[in-house]
Amino acid sequence: IMTPDSLKRLREWFRANAAELPWRPAGLDAPRDPYAVWISETMLQQTQVSTVRDYFTRWMKRFPDVEALAKAEEAEVFKYWQGLGYYSRARNILKTAKIVAALRQAQEPCKMPETRKELEALPGIGAYTAGAILSLAYHQREAILDGNLVRIFSRLYELDFLPTDKGSANKNCTEIYWEYAREVADSPKAYMHNEALMELGRTVCKTKSPLCETCPLRGECRAFQECRTTEFPPAKKR
Ligand code: ADE
Repeated sequence: IMTPDSLKRLREWFRANAAELPWRPAGLDAPRDPYAVWISETMLQQTQVSTVRDYFTRWMKRFPDVEALAKAEEAEVFKYWQGLGYYSRARNILKTAKIVAALRQAQEPCKMPETRKELEALPGIGAYTAGAILSLAYHQREAILDGNLVRIFSRLYELDFLPTDKGSANKNCTEIYWEYAREVADSPKAYMHNEALMELGRTVCKTKSPLCETCPLRGECRAFQECRTTEFPPAKKR
């Protein structure tokens, strides 16, 4: 339950601190190219920003849009992915490009779908990637949930479980986190709230040694106020 004030502080923090990244070519307010969001966010799912930067730039030069990608051989696609690991991501990206290209209306350029249902039906596109495309590219009020947001919500509200935990009849762990994510996205500025939280999680609300003194949300962070940031999020159960 973030207040309008805290969301405003979050946006102001993001405007002042957003890194320049190749997938933010026209600043923070312009709708992004959905294809570029799809590629960058898929790369970013298991790989750090510092590594993804150059891979993304090289990729976009060789495969600037869905059409170009859909025509490529898998071997070449893998070459551009080489070093990122998790090659099923690259295989799925190519499969999805071919599907999207095949669905194209005659004479129209290929377009990534604009609904969660259609996006999540595509290989390799899950709830996170769909939310990223819909919010960052199409400026829809759609939620995302990645490791950064999980860490932030866990600390803000002292949630002592992870989305992947089993839960019980009246506590669906995944759903509780998604509800927080949807509240943040219930705004015309969803695209900015989503990306600001990812950036905050990456640079301030870090796993180890979070930089709470500079955090725009410390006023409403329970873990900070009770000096318990090291306890949240809880360790993975094993
Ligand atoms: N991590 C994953 N996607 C990101 C994004 N768009 N901005 C900042 N950090 C991210």
